[in-house]
Amino acid sequence: MYKELIDRLERQQALSFEEYLTLIKNREEVRGYAAERAFAVRQKHYGNAVFIRGLIEISSYCKNDCYYCGLRASNKNAQRYRLTAEEIITCAENGYALGFRTFVLQGGEDGYYTDELLCGVIREIKARFPDCAVTLSLGERSTESYRLLKEAGADRYLLRHETANEAHYRRLHPPALSYENRQRCINDLKALGYQVGVGFMVGSPFQTDEDLANELLYLKKIQPQMVGIGPFIPHGDTPFKDFESGSAELTVFLLSLIRLTLPRVLLPATTALGTVDPIGREKGIMAGANVLMPNLSPAGVRKKYMIYDNKICTGDEAAQCIECLKGRVAKTGCEIVTDKGDYRNEL
Ligand code: 5AD
Ligand code: FES
Repeated sequence: MYKELIDRLERQQALSFEEYLTLIKNREEVRGYAAERAFAVRQKHYGNAVFIRGLIEISSYCKNDCYYCGLRASNKNAQRYRLTAEEIITCAENGYALGFRTFVLQGGEDGYYTDELLCGVIREIKARFPDCAVTLSLGERSTESYRLLKEAGADRYLLRHETANEAHYRRLHPPALSYENRQRCINDLKALGYQVGVGFMVGSPFQTDEDLANELLYLKKIQPQMVGIGPFIPHGDTPFKDFESGSAELTVFLLSLIRLTLPRVLLPATTALGTVDPIGREKGIMAGANVLMPNLSPAGVRKKYMIYDNKICTGDEAAQCIECLKGRVAKTGCEIVTDKGDYRNEL
């Protein structure tokens, strides 16, 4: 009976809130089958390919104060750094040599990175590496800023919606941040023609199974090209330090449901998943994920970009990570490719 719901998803028939909820509540029984079908759907649209995105963590400064995040402005123990335009370009150069064809510029919301500075960096990366995609993950900005960055050549933007439940949003964020503005940003990015990524944490404080069922309905409605999910992991210097981590099993099951709901979505097996389970990313790939986002940040700053505790791969050079990931991906029967890895609109 649960299998039938998975089969319906695979046939691209919409599930109701109750049906998603049934699956989530009975995940122990159905997760093996869901993973098998999600793997097949991923295979049908993208074959064996696992796409890699070079993550450049440009700034650990953030003006916001999200209750879950180690980079929050009130965390006086956080170590802060900023990469200069030149340092960012150097990271991309190193990444290109390692086979990366997408660079993700990610950082806290840091006023240092003006539109002018960012547009210059984007133009330079696109001029030097015309076969590469530039993805931004720099939080909430103005409509005008998103427009300028797109004009400068940015292709994609990652902005997790964090939760599709407005009341839940208020429990995760201080009053200065609103669900409404988050949605405004996501709508702007879509309207401007970015390939857009949204996403949420699994097992964030106060999240219910009902919330998760709603997340799947939200994703179906928004139709993003990318979805980033990972377990919530407490950071010791945040108000949420005493909450438990989200589970790898639930994250992996949700990856399967997302793959079945949005068959062509670009879906990372995240570093957070690899942090709560040593073979979490492999499990994610076996369950329908098809993207990995290893770190290209300079080794000297990696330990300073601590969104949550115990983050993996902070001591390794990018080249080491790539070798490690190649081995891990090979065990899943998939293969890391040197490819821009754009969203595929057609079969
Ligand atoms: N655990 C897991 N993920 C987190 N994020 C922020 N803080 C944490 C945490 N403690 C996620 C948020 C954010 C992304 C960059 O990292 O979803 O959008
Ligand atoms: Fe970084 Fe394995 S992916 S060391």
